[in-house]
Amino acid sequence: MARYQSVYQNWQQDPEAFWLDAAKDIDWVTPPTKALDDSTPPFYSWFADATCNTCYNAVDRHVAAGRGDQPAVIYDSPITGTKRTLTFAELQTETARLGGALQAQGVEKGDRVLIYMPMIAEAAIAMLACARIGAVHSVVFGGFASNELAVRIDDCQPKAVISASCGLEPNRTVPYKPLLDGAIEMATHKPALCIIKQREQLAAELIGGRDHDWDAVTAAATPADCVTVGGADPLYILYTSGTTGQPKGVVRTNGGHMVALNWTMKNIYNIDPGDVFWAASDVGWVVGHSYIVYAPLIAGCTTILFEGKPVGTPDAGTFWRVISEHDVKALFTAPTAFRAIRREDGAGEFIKKYDLSCFHALFLAGERADQATIEWAKEKLGVPVIDHWWQTETGWTIAGNPSGIELLDAPVGSAGIPMPGYDVQILDEGGHPVPDGTLGAITVKMPLPPGALPTLWNADERFKSSYLTTFPGYYETGDAGMKDENGFLYIMARTDDVINVAAHRLSTGEMEEVLSGHKDVAECAVIGVADELKGQLPLGFICLNGGCNRPHEEITAECVQRIRAEIGPVAAFKLVTVVDRLPKTRSGKILRGTMVNIADGTAWKMPATIDDPAILDEITDALKKMGYAGGA
Ligand code: COA
Ligand code: AMP
Repeated sequence: MARYQSVYQNWQQDPEAFWLDAAKDIDWVTPPTKALDDSTPPFYSWFADATCNTCYNAVDRHVAAGRGDQPAVIYDSPITGTKRTLTFAELQTETARLGGALQAQGVEKGDRVLIYMPMIAEAAIAMLACARIGAVHSVVFGGFASNELAVRIDDCQPKAVISASCGLEPNRTVPYKPLLDGAIEMATHKPALCIIKQREQLAAELIGGRDHDWDAVTAAATPADCVTVGGADPLYILYTSGTTGQPKGVVRTNGGHMVALNWTMKNIYNIDPGDVFWAASDVGWVVGHSYIVYAPLIAGCTTILFEGKPVGTPDAGTFWRVISEHDVKALFTAPTAFRAIRREDGAGEFIKKYDLSCFHALFLAGERADQATIEWAKEKLGVPVIDHWWQTETGWTIAGNPSGIELLDAPVGSAGIPMPGYDVQILDEGGHPVPDGTLGAITVKMPLPPGALPTLWNADERFKSSYLTTFPGYYETGDAGMKDENGFLYIMARTDDVINVAAHRLSTGEMEEVLSGHKDVAECAVIGVADELKGQLPLGFICLNGGCNRPHEEITAECVQRIRAEIGPVAAFKLVTVVDRLPKTRSGKILRGTMVNIADGTAWKMPATIDDPAILDEITDALKKMGYAGGA
C-alpha cells in the first residue's frame, strides 16, 4: 500500500498543493492561483479564480494537439444494428454547430437546457454543446415519466429542451415526444424552444414556433466558439432521488469537475490518452455524465456509447462483442448487469467466443457488489474486478482501488479505500467516530473535494439540512458501513429511504407519495426487498379507506400503473398488496426496517417501541403470499 499511502498523505498534508498540481493537466483560459475558496463555509468552491471551458478540454484541445482523427465517441447500438464513430474533429464540428443553433435561439451562458435523450451520440453532443456555450445542462433519464420531467423543468427552468423522437427498449419503442409535450403542459415554467432529433424508428410531430428539427437547425447554424466561464460556474445540474418526491438538483461546477475527473482516469482507472474506455450505463445517471462523457473525453480517450442491454440485445455475449470489436481496455458497469449475464450464461460460453486480450479491468459501482458475481467475473474474465463506491453528489470515487497508482489487494466485501480528497469517518448517532469494524454512518469531513457538489440547485438550505446537519462539519453520505484496520470501507445499507433497483437510485418516500394520491388508499408503505437480479425491488403495502369494497386486484393494478405513469417504468414497481394495518411505533412511525428484515428473512428483533406486535404476523402472512418472508 506504500504508493497509495504516499499519494493519500500528499493530499492530506497539503490539499491545496495537491489539487493545484492536478489542475496543471487542464487547459485553462486563466489558470487558478488558488484551489479552494473556503471563505463562506459550509459552501466551498474550487478553482473560483480560474476561467475555462469544459467542452474545450473535452474536445477542442485534443484537435489542437493533433488528435483530431482519433475516435472520440463510438456509438454502438445492437438494438438498431448501427454503429457510428465520431472523431475528435467531428465531435468539435457537431458540438460547435449545435452550440451555434442554441445561441441563435437566444440560449446564453448560465441559461439552463434540459436534455431528455436516449443513448445516441447526439446525447453526448448535446451535453458538450451546452458546456461549449456556457449553458447549464440537466439531463433526465429516459425511463422517467412526464411528471418527473415536469418537476425538473419547474425546478431548473430551462430556456431550451433537447430531446429525440424516441428511445428504444428491447421490447418496445418509447415515444419521447408525447412524454415531453405532456411534461411541458404540466409544468408551470414553459421552455422557449425544443430541439428534437428525429430518429428513423419513429418520427415525432413538431409543434410550430416551439419545436425545431435537430438536423435542420444544426445544418443552418454558425459554429459556436467555446465561451469562457468561471471555474466555479455551474456546468450541469443532475437530479437525484432524496426522501421526497422533490428530487435534489446536484450542482456540478466546471473547474473542479475537470480537475477531479481527469485525475481519476489514470490514477483510479489506469487509463491513458488514446485508450478506449466503456461505461455501460446511461447518460441520464451520474456514471454516464462522468464516465461516458466527461472524464474519458477530457483525458483524451475514446468512449463507447452503447444503446443496448447486457442480455437480450441480442444475447449475453453483447458486452464481449463490444469489448473485442472496439478494443476496450476497461469496462465500468453495475453488478446487476453481470448478474443478468451470469444468469443467462453461467458457463461463460459467450466469453470464449471473443478475443478479449485488449481488456484489462472491470470496474463495478452503483450498488453493493455481491461476492458471487465478483468471483464469477474474475474467474471467467481473468482480469481484476474492482468495486468502488461513490454517488451522484460526489461525481467520482469516494472509495475505490487506485489501480493506476497501485492495484491494492482489497479484502472481500470491501468497496475500497478512500481516495485523496476524501477524509472518510464512520460516526455513531452522537457524531463520535466508531472503532474499526463497527457499523456507523459513513461521513466525509468537509470540505468535499473538487468535482463534488458545492450545493443543491436553488436550494442552499436543503443542501445543509440534507447533508450537513446531522453531523456538523461532516457530509452525510446516507450510507451506513464500516472501516477495517487498514482503512478499507464496507458499504452495507442506506440510512434513508433510498433504494437501489438495478443500480438505479429511487426513493420509496416518493413512491409512497404517489400511492397516497390514489383515492382508495388511506395509508401506505413502500420498502426495498432483496432481489437476485436487481439487488432490490420496491414492494408496496396499502391500507384502504374504510368502506372501500372494490376488488383488491383492481386497486393494486391501478397502483402499479400510477407509479409507472407518475415516476416511470424505471421504478420497476410491480409488487403491491393490501393489508389491514401497518406496523408502527407508539409514536406512529412505520417500522419499515423491520418489514424489510421479515421480507428478506434476515434476523430481526421485536422493536421495543412497537405499538401492536400482532400486526407483524399479518405483514408476514401478506409477504409469504407474495413469495417473500420464506413463502414459496
Ligand atoms: N427509457 C425508457 N424506459 C426504460 C429506460 C429508458 N432509458 N430504461 C429502462 N426502461 C424501462 C425498461 O424497459 C423496463 O420497462 P418494463 O417494465 O416495461 O420492462 C423498466 O424501465 C425497468 O428497466 P430495468 O431496470 O433496466 O430492467 P430490465 O429488466 O429492462 O433490465 C437489467 C435489467 C439488469 C439488464 C438492466 O437494468 C441493466 O442493464 N442494468 C444496468 C445498470 C445500469 O446501467 N446502471 C446505471 C448506473 S451504473
Ligand atoms: P447514485 O447516486 O445513483 O450513484 O447512487 C449512489 C448510492 O448507490 C450510494 O450512496 C450507495 O448507496 C450505492 N452504491 C454506489 N456504489 C456502491 C458500491 N460500490 N457498493 C455499495 N453501494 C454502492
